This record gives sequence, C-alpha cells and structure tokens, in this order.
Amino acid sequence: MTHDHSDHQDHGHQNHDHQALSEMLDLDAEIFASAMRTVYADIENAADAPVRSILDLGAGTGAGTFGLLQHFTGARAVAVDSSADMLTGLEQEAERRGLTDRITTARADLDEALPVLDPVDLAWAAASLHHLSDPDRTLGQITSAIRPGGLLAVAEVNGLPRFLSSDTPGGAAELRAHELIAADRAVDMPMMGSDWGSRLTRAGLVVDVHRTITADLASPVPAAVNRYAAAVLTRIRRAVVDRLDPADLHAFDALLDEGPDDVRRRADLHVISSERLLWIARRPA
Ligand SMILES: C[S@@+](CC[C@H](N)C(=O)[O-])C[C@H]1O[C@@H](n2cnc3c(N)ncnc32)[C@H](O)[C@@H]1O
Repeated sequence: MTHDHSDHQDHGHQNHDHQALSEMLDLDAEIFASAMRTVYADIENAADAPVRSILDLGAGTGAGTFGLLQHFTGARAVAVDSSADMLTGLEQEAERRGLTDRITTARADLDEALPVLDPVDLAWAAASLHHLSDPDRTLGQITSAIRPGGLLAVAEVNGLPRFLSSDTPGGAAELRAHELIAADRAVDMPMMGSDWGSRLTRAGLVVDVHRTITADLASPVPAAVNRYAAAVLTRIRRAVVDRLDPADLHAFDALLDEGPDDVRRRADLHVISSERLLWIARRPA
C-alpha cells in the first residue's frame, strides 16, 4: 500500500481533531454495521456481475472499505482520502485485519482530480460528497472512473445525530448547540443535505435504488452509543464553545464531565438520528 506522507506536518490540535473524528467514524461504523450489511446486499443485487474492484472515495478510517471487502470477498479496493492521517490509520487497520493485499490507498483531493485507475465495478462515497466544493464536477469524474454497467453507491448524512430528549438534563443545551452547528453548516458546508439523486442523474447515472438507511437502536441502546455520544458531543462542543450562553455551556459540559449527567453513564440516550440516505446508481452500459 502506498501514499505520499511527505508534505504532512502534524500539529497537536490537528492530531487531537483527527483522533476524535477517527473515533467517531469507527463508533459510527460499529453502530451502523448491520444496517450497512443490508446496503451491501442491495449493491450485490443491483450489480450486473460479481464486484471485483471498488473505489472508496473519502474513505476515512475505512468503514466502507472494510465492510465492502468483507461482503465482496473476491474484490480489491482503492481507498482514497485527502487526509494522510486517515490513510495511515486505514493502512494500520488493513494490516491488523490481514487485508493489505486487497487494499491500496491513494491520497487525493477529490476537489481536484481522482487517481488514475482502471474503471471500477463499484465506486462508494459515504458521508464524503457533502465535503466537496463542486460535487457535480467530481461526480462527472467519478462516472468516468466506473466501467459501463458499473455502480456508484452514495450514503449521505444531513447532520450530526442528537442523543437527548429536550426535557432531560442537557437536552435543551444539546438542541441549541445543534442549531448553531446547523447555521454554520448552511454557510460552510452548503452541500450537506443536497438532492444527490438529481446530481447523480445529471452526471449521467441511472438511479436504481434510493432508500433510508436505519440502524435499529431500540432502547437499551448498545454501550457503543454512549461512547459515540461522547465523541459527537466533544466535537460539537469545540465548534460552539464560544457561542453557547453560560447556562447552556454549563449544562453541556455536564454531559462530558464524568458526573451523573455524563452521556457515557446514562441509560436514557437514544439516537435521534440525522437521516442517512442511500442511492445506488448505474453507469449505463
Ligand atoms: C465524514 S468522513 C466519512 C468517512 C467514511 N467514508 C465513513 O463513512 O466513515 C469524510 C471523509 O472525507 C474526507 N474528505 C473530505 N474532503 C475530501 C476531499 N476533498 N478529497 C478527499 N477526501 C476528502 C475526509 O478526510 C474524511 O475522511
């Protein structure tokens, strides 16, 4: 596996951000694992031939890469990300899982150009397209990277999950923090919540499957949800700490201070999920 780490300088807070994001993505993968298996089955049903080559775009810690390789046992994957840290973590995990011979990593900024590869059977983009500044242009490039008859699967989110009802300790503060984040997103990440189906069609793809991806998180939620909530709320706190009013900040901090309201201890969490949507689209043969 290869990628270029040479221009990477790790600063303390970036490293901390990276670790927090990696932890959140890994917990997210754990919580959605069984829901994602149904997605892989949908891809298999939509495919016109066994999936042997996969391009994971914005692979992060590799949730999709590893899940897809586990499902499509005859496949190899190229995991692309702009973050050297993400790719290093993915490579280490590939090694741990004994999958280095089936995974190649490539560092690339999808706002610029895709790595040059033979056309793949399946391109996969989970929670990555909303980061792009011109997704229509990148979707055009992705379409060209898929063989005729091959598939693009897009799994997108439209926000971060909430965990607390408004009438429970910290719930109102969590809600107000989300409102601040949503306002930021409208400016900083306008593609989040976009109509991806129309964009796929404009890129020349034919949408075969469109549905919601739901994790079964009936109470009591798995212990991973407590850690997931702490990871998500830690990220949110960093983004809103200067803007929450003092009473809200006090209540918010109690969700992470290892006291009785800490989300790692609570039994009343539920994932008030941000919606997760799936599109599986085909490049016409
Ligand atoms: C929310 S994470 C999703 C990771 C993974 N697909 C998953 O489902 O867990 C988004 C990923 O996209 C990557 N990313 C964001 N903008 C990118 C760009 N312009 N080019 C390549 N990767 C990008 C980030 O580094 C991050 O790893």
